Amino acid sequence: MRKKRITMQKRVTLASLTGPAAAGYPKFSKHLSCLSTVDEAKMAVNSGPPPYYENHGYQPENIYISRHPVDTNLNPQYPPPSYPPSVPHYVPRVPTHQPAPPVIQPKPPSATLCTSNIKKTVCIALSIALILVGAVIAAILLWYFVANSCLGSSIECGSSGRCVSPSQWCDGVAHCSNGEDENRCVRLYGPNFILEVYSSVSKSWYPICQDDWNDNYGKIACRDMGYNVDTYYYSQGIANERGSTSFMRLNTSAGNIDLYKKLYHSDSCTLGTVVSLRCIRCGSSSKKVNVMGRIVGGSVAAQKEWPWQVSLQIEGSHVCGGSIITPEWIVTAAHCVEGKFSSPYSWTVYAGILTQTETRYRSGYRVQKIISHPNYDSDSKNNDVALMKLQTRLSFTDTIGPVCLPNPGMMFQPNQQCWISGWGAESQGGKTSDVLNAVMVPLIETSTCNSVYVYNGLVLPTMICAGYLEGGKDSCQGDSGGPLVTVKNSLWWLVGDTSWGTGCASRRRPGVYGNMTVFTDWIYRNMQANR
Ligand code: ARG
Repeated sequence: MRKKRITMQKRVTLASLTGPAAAGYPKFSKHLSCLSTVDEAKMAVNSGPPPYYENHGYQPENIYISRHPVDTNLNPQYPPPSYPPSVPHYVPRVPTHQPAPPVIQPKPPSATLCTSNIKKTVCIALSIALILVGAVIAAILLWYFVANSCLGSSIECGSSGRCVSPSQWCDGVAHCSNGEDENRCVRLYGPNFILEVYSSVSKSWYPICQDDWNDNYGKIACRDMGYNVDTYYYSQGIANERGSTSFMRLNTSAGNIDLYKKLYHSDSCTLGTVVSLRCIRCGSSSKKVNVMGRIVGGSVAAQKEWPWQVSLQIEGSHVCGGSIITPEWIVTAAHCVEGKFSSPYSWTVYAGILTQTETRYRSGYRVQKIISHPNYDSDSKNNDVALMKLQTRLSFTDTIGPVCLPNPGMMFQPNQQCWISGWGAESQGGKTSDVLNAVMVPLIETSTCNSVYVYNGLVLPTMICAGYLEGGKDSCQGDSGGPLVTVKNSLWWLVGDTSWGTGCASRRRPGVYGNMTVFTDWIYRNMQANR
């Protein structure tokens, strides 16, 4: 650790990485000691409904232009970012000063060849033909690159690089080779998991009438979202609380065709209820929110309070935290798995533990695959989120279970109470804690967090701040990737993943977290494509 800019007072911090730091773990020496939500962040903290929620599932990834951090002198000697260009460069690399290819510029006919008039005519015709062929080839190549390079508003098919226009998504015709354009046309909206389908014709989302709906359809929709059928929980009809005036209904006499082709528009539902769908039983904890006084200031977690919390280890040392979202997927921070930490085989995941000591006597879970957000920027910490797929599935118990991923349309209020947990350092520069700690931190409005007195513009839409401007309670090194959760409708939701902060628990330097609401669509798409 280098010189601290801020003197620390007594602080109870949650996080931090002794182990990782010692192990040459990425040093966020920029004093952005890494911890990281979206427009939603904004919206999370603002009152107006953020436009972002509207169909954000179909927005291109790169909607967020990565800003360069304002020079606040926070990050001296930060290593240069080494991420791949996020936009493929299809520009043909033709040096401007090279002679043009012979096909296009045929050699001047030699004196011997084109002496007679007939020969001249043949030569000219041949030259023209060659030029035409060249032009056609060039036009075809140009068309190919334009059609496939997600320019403008088109959307990429999985990882194939192929692009299709938004009007072709969810239109019932597969344009992507793996049909990705047709299988993410459902979403769960708001805290009551209202199932909605997207219509490419009207470019909007519609709830589905409960009439004739059953679990088999529910399972199809969950599968299309990226869940595995074996976690399916239930679907039920609930009141049309959003006051929708347009719905989708099932045409049961349509025969054995695709679910989405059985749906048709309707102005009402016979039963008057819409489908609420739970693809996984998530967000249960033994924690009683009302008795929160005892964890103010950070305190030792109790068994079953944070069943989604995992410890991500390399060579027996705790490096980062993570959150369980399904039996095989863990959400963590992209900065935890960058560079030499990017190989899945170096990681071991421990679930259901309270102390690091326990990991010595237990076997962890091996990692099969790590997927970092393609637009993660190690410098600004933009899009600081990654997924880990386990080699073997977790079995859920009271102490091991998934947190709920936030649905579009969920509003988190400014100052909303959230909790962070982790084995990170208990003070700036300290070592990993043996016991799991947790503390309540309120969300901080992005405008406040970005003010000159706080982070002066470093908080991007993919981030959300939580903590105390007066300092004292925060996450710290080693808590990264771990959960920032809140409770709503008696369920626990993942609001963010610990990303960065200047120092730990310092005055006017709260923790910054990845804004999970912004990432859920990316998460579902990746779960879906990597099942
Ligand atoms: N980047 C840190 C990590 O890798 C988390 C730092 C959190 N800092 C803070 N002040 N909240 O563990």
